[in-house]
Amino acid sequence: MPTFLPGDMSHRDRHQLVLSGVSPRPIAFIGSQDAAGICNLSPYSFFNAFASNPPIVAIGPAIAARTGKVKDTWRNIMETGQCTISTVPYSIVHRMNIAAGEYPPEVDEFEVAGLTKRPSVLVAPPSVAESPYAMECTLMENIELRRDIGGNGNLMLLEVVAFHVADSVLSGGKLDPRRLDLVGRMGGGFYTRTTDLFEASQPLHACIGIDELPDHVRTSPVLTGNDLAQLAYVPVLPMLDGSYPQFDESFRADSFEIELASGNPDGALFVLLNSPQRHDRIMLHRVAQLLIKLGRIADAWQTVMME
Ligand SMILES: Cc1cc2nc3c(=O)[nH]c(=O)nc-3n(C[C@H](O)[C@H](O)[C@H](O)COP(=O)(O)O)c2cc1C
Repeated sequence: MPTFLPGDMSHRDRHQLVLSGVSPRPIAFIGSQDAAGICNLSPYSFFNAFASNPPIVAIGPAIAARTGKVKDTWRNIMETGQCTISTVPYSIVHRMNIAAGEYPPEVDEFEVAGLTKRPSVLVAPPSVAESPYAMECTLMENIELRRDIGGNGNLMLLEVVAFHVADSVLSGGKLDPRRLDLVGRMGGGFYTRTTDLFEASQPLHACIGIDELPDHVRTSPVLTGNDLAQLAYVPVLPMLDGSYPQFDESFRADSFEIELASGNPDGALFVLLNSPQRHDRIMLHRVAQLLIKLGRIADAWQTVMME
């Protein structure tokens, strides 16, 4: 694997390497105002959250490496100590791109991008009404990043003083990630859309770990590292349950391959257990893999232990 040292690279290459590898990044669509009250709106993907009590987020407005010019957003926040951050759903991604253009300070990018101002409650700058999740922020601290070696970054720590969350993205009073449809920034002109969601609950206990999996499971030619890790989430090695699986009299199944291809691990297991290959490791692991995919970890364990 090649190694790249930042000091040996051109600014452009280094910038793209950071943007492409540290990704996807959330996008802060930042509303700010200058001292005269002129609004500014620009996207910043050097952005993330770092604490929740109090809620603190950070953004990274650069000083343009080519011209040495500071961003209007940075100057406005330094002047007024306030901004808003609206998240970017797919429905406004191209309007966000229009707002990213370089406009003179007196241009209001809400107007240029055709976006609506949502008045704020505790700060002066408005947020983007088309965004379902927005925050009002005050400046905690601006940290200049390595100005001693000509570094062009800033890290602005912002305290969130109010949240705005649309009803359309709530389920049972809670923010529902499936409804947000946010975009993230990747390298070059690439973005990602959060429509391909999956759940991976954080275990509340210590796990047995990959190293404690039985050898015939750990060295499986079928199960991937992600599959093994989901088996290893358990706090103790499960025991073989002689009563698994149970099929009632009327249970019917097609061929092993058809059942597996149609996402029916029970059917595939039924066929397998009624065939001479019932202890075939690869076939059992293929069933277990489907069970893992369906979130049926306990059944996957029973299946791999049948070998
Ligand atoms: C998706 C996206 C993310 C961006 N993120 C950053 C960033 O984190 N830091 C930065 O300095 N510029 C970033 N830019 C570029 C600024 O948006 C651009 O320089 C803009 O003209 C700044 O506007 P302003 O001077 O009104 O603040 C980003 C552009 C896009 C399209």
